[in-house]
Amino acid sequence: MSESLIQKDDNLNQALQTLRDCFSITVPEMLVIAEKFHDDMHQSLAGQKGPLKMLPSFLDVPGGGESGEFLSVDFGGTNVRVSLVSLQGNGKITIIKRKSVPLKDPGGSYDYTSAAATGRGLFCFLAEQIANFVSPGETIFLGHTFSFPTKMYALNKAVLIGWTKEFKTRLAEGRDVNELLKEALNKHGLHGVRPVAVTNDTVATLLAAAYGDPHADIGSICGTGHNTSYLEPLPPQGQGPMIINIESGSFDGLPATFYDRQLDSSSEKPGEQMLEKRVSGRYLGELMRLVVLDLVQKGLLLQGRAGNMTGFPFNPFTLNPEHMSAMISDNTNGLIRTAAWLIEAAGVQDPPLKELGALKIIASLLSARSARLAAATYIGILQHLDPLLTNLHTIAIDGSLYEKMAGYAQSLRTALDEALTDRAGQVTVRFIKDGSGIGAAIAAAIAMQDQSGPMHLI
Ligand code: BGC
Repeated sequence: MSESLIQKDDNLNQALQTLRDCFSITVPEMLVIAEKFHDDMHQSLAGQKGPLKMLPSFLDVPGGGESGEFLSVDFGGTNVRVSLVSLQGNGKITIIKRKSVPLKDPGGSYDYTSAAATGRGLFCFLAEQIANFVSPGETIFLGHTFSFPTKMYALNKAVLIGWTKEFKTRLAEGRDVNELLKEALNKHGLHGVRPVAVTNDTVATLLAAAYGDPHADIGSICGTGHNTSYLEPLPPQGQGPMIINIESGSFDGLPATFYDRQLDSSSEKPGEQMLEKRVSGRYLGELMRLVVLDLVQKGLLLQGRAGNMTGFPFNPFTLNPEHMSAMISDNTNGLIRTAAWLIEAAGVQDPPLKELGALKIIASLLSARSARLAAATYIGILQHLDPLLTNLHTIAIDGSLYEKMAGYAQSLRTALDEALTDRAGQVTVRFIKDGSGIGAAIAAAIAMQDQSGPMHLI
């Protein structure tokens, strides 16, 4: 592995300048990434093997008239969310009831994301959560957002290609997740709950936006994971427009810093999900920890003050995007919120203001790089859909990074404005709260409408 660019005899200001040079992405660089992304999309659409999976969803965008009450299960990040959703047509949606449960008990009693758990166990846990939503004998249709790469054979048949986001649950890869869910529901006596549709969360977010917005044609998640889907007018499957799940997190060929390589080599699947490892919340905190650790080891930060070798920055995953967001938005005199966190997390005494400022700068650099990389891929998709940007487009985004990371949404918008210049006004970016859950309900509604069509259900 190549060496860090930070030199032992640098001072902190020089080191920060080096980091700025490493992590900044200029407009010309964004356009090169967009072009490469666009080429990779074409390669996969033409049936050649490439880094992008471009998975069919068997779904077109909704007409907006879909209606009824549906259950939705949103599984794929830190929590599983079950919702009862009412679709009322004309873009009107109400979430009647919703429950969110962590997949990993903070108290340590269970962890369905670890190798100690199995696919069956995980889906039994999902069925237990669903049981709270149905009365005995009730029949209700369910849409399932499953936020991992799946090979779709129909709207209700989705085989997990492989885990991402460091999930390690055994005996799930290569299985049909709708079957696993059905088995678990039956085991819990929930015979009236009919899982009729599986969607990716990016697809669900696009469905949720398109329910009331005719221009929505790109759906993305900037959260624990990162990925994007879009409405392909001419899919290779050839049955009219279809949403394609790009699985853009596996986009490769991006400039890699020393820290990106370090993070990748210690991850569950080295060499995979290279864009996701630079963009998503699952990895952003860890990347920052690696940068800080390098500075500590070079004698530039926390010298003689990092009291606790098992805390931050020595221990993996001791920093997350919430901490980063708190640093970025810390505008107090003396950066006292950042200081309080550092004292607690690293056991340091009296951190100097200059070092606290350095943490804020590093968090901002990594967050901005994430937003600019995501924006570059959106530009690649727009180049494919509408090279001259003659039409209006809405990019629908859900996810905790986009929603909560201080400055993230603004960085993303700025990146689009800088790169699209006078055509930027053609592109709206919309935050779609609960897009994954709502979209699953819409997918279930579409499945029921099209039940007689051969394309969606088997
Ligand atoms: C998965 C995608 C998902 C994204 C956002 C990635 O790790 O591969 O399928 O859409 O996370 O949740």
